[in-house]
Amino acid sequence: MNYLLIGGAGYIGSHIKEQIIKNKKHGDKIIIFDNFSTGFTSFTADADQVIEGDFTNYEALEVVFDKNKIDVVILLAAKIAVGESVKKPIEYYQNNLIGAINTLNCIKKFNVPKLIFSSTAAVYGLGNNIPLKETDPTNPINPYGYGKLTVERMIIDLAATINLKYVILRYFNVAGASDSLKIGYLTKDVKSITHIVPSISSSVFKIKDALQIFGDDYATNDGTCVRDYVHVVDLADAHLQAVNYLENNDSNIFNVGSKNGYSVLEIVKAFEKGNNIKVDYAIGKRRAGDPDFLVADSNKIRTMMNFKPQFNLEDIVKSEYQWREHIIKNAIK
Ligand code: UFG
Repeated sequence: MNYLLIGGAGYIGSHIKEQIIKNKKHGDKIIIFDNFSTGFTSFTADADQVIEGDFTNYEALEVVFDKNKIDVVILLAAKIAVGESVKKPIEYYQNNLIGAINTLNCIKKFNVPKLIFSSTAAVYGLGNNIPLKETDPTNPINPYGYGKLTVERMIIDLAATINLKYVILRYFNVAGASDSLKIGYLTKDVKSITHIVPSISSSVFKIKDALQIFGDDYATNDGTCVRDYVHVVDLADAHLQAVNYLENNDSNIFNVGSKNGYSVLEIVKAFEKGNNIKVDYAIGKRRAGDPDFLVADSNKIRTMMNFKPQFNLEDIVKSEYQWREHIIKNAIK
């Protein structure tokens, strides 16, 4: 099977590549296409082919499909910072929609039979029903979420007209790292880390300012926001299972979460307990656009795709800590 990972040099794509290689069947081939704006060359090690290019450039993408018979496209590439998308909406739409349209045009032209698309819990917006089911209303509250939902729609509409099967995975909060210590959450500039789990480890190792918890007056048990954290290796496995699922099943949309919600304060405590360290923090102001709760109802993926997360919150915080310690000690950038 020939896999094309568009945006495959990043945090999630590199974990998917690692899992494909671990479960490699004879004849599997991994091609990574990435513009390396946020990805890393070291994360592409062991891929069969690595092509530097931007998915918003149709000609650059078309060459890849023309030269290789692609069996599965995994579309990961996107700008993903929710806050930034509010400030730069057109940049977000331009990148995420044009890149997806180019990808879909290639899929159509070269008759690619399978597509796995990285979507997000952000499509649910404020998510009034908790836990969130795939059938719940989608009302994104930021351009990032609107863009992802629009791509979902384009995929569904295209698949109705050609011989294409897809799985749309709506990721909840992805964190942690592979125990290979070769890949993990990494940014070109430490200041651009915005996610809570790497923000905690970066503050512990003092490569970033002390942790700020954004608001403690939400309608949750301890006042801090509740999210559903999924280990990046489990998420990567979900992609492999999605490809298998399409062998004998029709296209579908799945939440990828653990169905357990944890508050920001609970994450901090889990980090302290799991790693036997102290995390200093201050309570700051709310961050714009943060819903109180975002937790997945994960029944659908568990029953229909037989997805069983292997890792819990303790594994997430320990693996993140080990990864951060490793890259700091070895000056990996
Ligand atoms: N938080 C802090 N301090 C920080 C960083 C984050 O208190 O320094 C809080 C946030 O306010 C939020 C929670 O930690 O309450 C989680 O924030 P993240 O930035 O880690 O993740 P988000 O829930 O905002 O966003 C993630 C993905 C999005 C996706 C969304 C859907 O990054 O792409 O989940 O659930 F859309």
